Amino acid sequence: MQPTLPEMTDQSGRALRDLRISVTDRCNFRCPYCMPAEAFGERYQFLPRSEILSFEEIARLARIFCELGATKVRITGGEPLLRAELPKLIAKLASIQAVQDLALTTNGYRLRDQAEALRDAGLRRVTVSLDSLDDEVFKRMNGRNFSVSQVLEGIAAAERAGLGPIKLNCVVQRGVNDHTIVDLARHFKATGHILRFIEFMDVGTLNRWELSQVVSASEILARIHTEMPLVPTSPNYRGEVAQRYRYEDGEGEIGLIASVSQPFCGDCTRARLTPDGQLVTCLFAATGKDLKTPLRAGASDDELRELIHTVWSRRTDRYSEERAEKLSPPTAQAEPGRIEMYRIGG
Ligand code: GTP
Ligand code: 5AD
Ligand code: SF4
Ligand code: SF4
Repeated sequence: MQPTLPEMTDQSGRALRDLRISVTDRCNFRCPYCMPAEAFGERYQFLPRSEILSFEEIARLARIFCELGATKVRITGGEPLLRAELPKLIAKLASIQAVQDLALTTNGYRLRDQAEALRDAGLRRVTVSLDSLDDEVFKRMNGRNFSVSQVLEGIAAAERAGLGPIKLNCVVQRGVNDHTIVDLARHFKATGHILRFIEFMDVGTLNRWELSQVVSASEILARIHTEMPLVPTSPNYRGEVAQRYRYEDGEGEIGLIASVSQPFCGDCTRARLTPDGQLVTCLFAATGKDLKTPLRAGASDDELRELIHTVWSRRTDRYSEERAEKLSPPTAQAEPGRIEMYRIGG
């Protein structure tokens, strides 16, 4: 179904195409680059249940976003599989006609037991975060001492359930997991899964980002190419975040997400909805627009649509490009005030 309204664009002519819905701010991992354990201890106060949007509220907003142009929906968190009865939400979203692509990003720990139910509800595919196959490195990077085997079982279950093409996201941090990336690539070569390497980003305020810890996409590419030759290949769609490279021998492809060294704001068509109903138009934003209050105060669909329209048409976000222009080279994490990654889901 086509959007029912004339195309809505922001100040840079970018349409709204992707809606990323964070369904919970909780996570069972404590990846130091996202939710470091020292900041998110046992007593950390996550959002109270009453603040979190119900499935009905999310689905209603999603339908309105689709009327404004969104065709692709991704469920994120925190860890989305911690949200009870998630398949019920998937079913609601899958029934929206305009939704052509319905995906989910997960750390994979609970995927083994949920893959089938998610597929039955209408989920099309999953992306699993996987930073290393080396158990010691993996344990350090999830901050909870969890072994990698259960995530691998989750990936296998997703494959059996037909939730493909399966993508695997690896955040690369120098001195932490960069020595294991070639092994990771070798393991998934010829499996049909698409491994993507992500440059460590300065999201949020707590991950102690430093430029020296970023391994650039070109360096990652060079390291893998030396062992297993790669050739560039064209994007699947305009604005694809990952640059694609296929193995010369035909055994699959990898992706590089160069958000620090080669920002891609020019084609950014992504809107993010936080668990408590804020509309956030950039991963690096300090604030969002509260949609929950009007929603719960009885706003009509027209009123909500108008609100979203106003936010999007005023949008000027291009944080990663500005970072690259202003702070060249950027060296340390910026001022406090930004929304943390686990609230907007990457
Ligand atoms: P596909 O629909 O499979 O193409 O997914 P995707 O490329 O949108 O990938 P995914 O949602 O898995 O995003 C991968 C990672 O890229 C995220 O976890 C972020 O780290 C980064 N990323 C995604 N969107 C943005 C964005 O808008 N800005 C920046 N700076 N990074 C992003
Ligand atoms: N830099 C890059 N990617 C990140 N993610 C979380 N924090 C960061 C960061 N600082 C990614 C995770 C996951 C997704 C939800 O966001 O790897 O794939
Ligand atoms: Fe959890 Fe994902 Fe953040 Fe890791 S990156 S702490 S798995 S939300
Ligand atoms: Fe989009 Fe902001 Fe990322 Fe740029 S930095 S690609 S505007 S989310």
